[in-house]
Amino acid sequence: MSGVLSTIGATPIVELTKLDPNSSVRIFAKLESHNPGGSIKDRSALEMLQERIRDGQLVPGKSTVIESSSGNLGIGLAQICAYHGIRFICVVDPRTNRQNIAIMRAYGAEVEVVTDVDPVSGEYLPVRIRRVRELVESITHAYCPNQYANPLNPRAHHSTVREILDALPTLDFVFCATSSCGTLRGCAEYLRRHQLPAQVVAVDALGSAIFGPPVGGRLIPGHGASVRPSLYADGLADQVIRVHDLDAIVGCRRLAAREAILAGGSSGAVVSALDVVRDRIPPGSTCALVFPDRGERYLDTIYNDDWVAMHFGDVAHLWKEPEMEAMSC
Ligand SMILES: Cc1ncc(COP(=O)(O)O)c(C=O)c1O
Repeated sequence: MSGVLSTIGATPIVELTKLDPNSSVRIFAKLESHNPGGSIKDRSALEMLQERIRDGQLVPGKSTVIESSSGNLGIGLAQICAYHGIRFICVVDPRTNRQNIAIMRAYGAEVEVVTDVDPVSGEYLPVRIRRVRELVESITHAYCPNQYANPLNPRAHHSTVREILDALPTLDFVFCATSSCGTLRGCAEYLRRHQLPAQVVAVDALGSAIFGPPVGGRLIPGHGASVRPSLYADGLADQVIRVHDLDAIVGCRRLAAREAILAGGSSGAVVSALDVVRDRIPPGSTCALVFPDRGERYLDTIYNDDWVAMHFGDVAHLWKEPEMEAMSC
């Protein structure tokens, strides 16, 4: 592999010592925002396309890749298709942030926004999937990676967890935000295949349908899914933590304030999940938190005080540092 694609993977891992200075466990973060497309989904995109280019199913200049994505996978695919000169159509919905759409278009992707929700579920995802099927049937030499069912998606994450294992002296818990189940499944598969004892904690949104019926809606894209993906299997996770959107926001704001890491919503959800299980983690354990993307794409939402107040009320005290409050008096 050459060019920018050769920089996908091998992302940095850093110790978080300021998130909780009294922590009895060591906490490390795998910063997937350092992938060239800005997220963990670069790995899945590369694995799913590279294999098909190798076996001749995808032919630069002739094939069209078509996928439904709320953003990060779309950006990863757009980047790889641009590199190889492959046409790419991404089907998104109105919840997709405008910047993500602009980035995909900047890479040369065609972006189609579905506008109606599915009349049965009230969700956009079934409508997006139907539109992808229509496009695949109507365009010759079309290929849909289908991240929700493609075994190459989890396979991409064997390296994610292997890199964590290589970087740390021991590993007891790995926390992964979950949507397609690619990260969760890939990490769990690798650990079990190598008979490694680390536990996998899956982090989902409260309003998601992956691990059970949704509880309310969800506003933050990234983690969570409105339909259980085919890649889901019982027992992949040792523990499942479902996080309210507000707790994901608090996690993000604390990360920015204490660790100077501007991370996306699912990273905040992972931080919040660690808080939930912390008392059950034996002292001296090593925890790895996988941070899937960066915060710049959430400046209008998670990091916008007006947006947060509009949806959750007056909640800034939840992340304000005590010394900052004193300074503002
Ligand atoms: C920001 C973010 N976090 C978490 C996930 C979940 O990852 P996976 O699809 O591997 O379950 C995604 C997937 O798109 C994502 O974009």
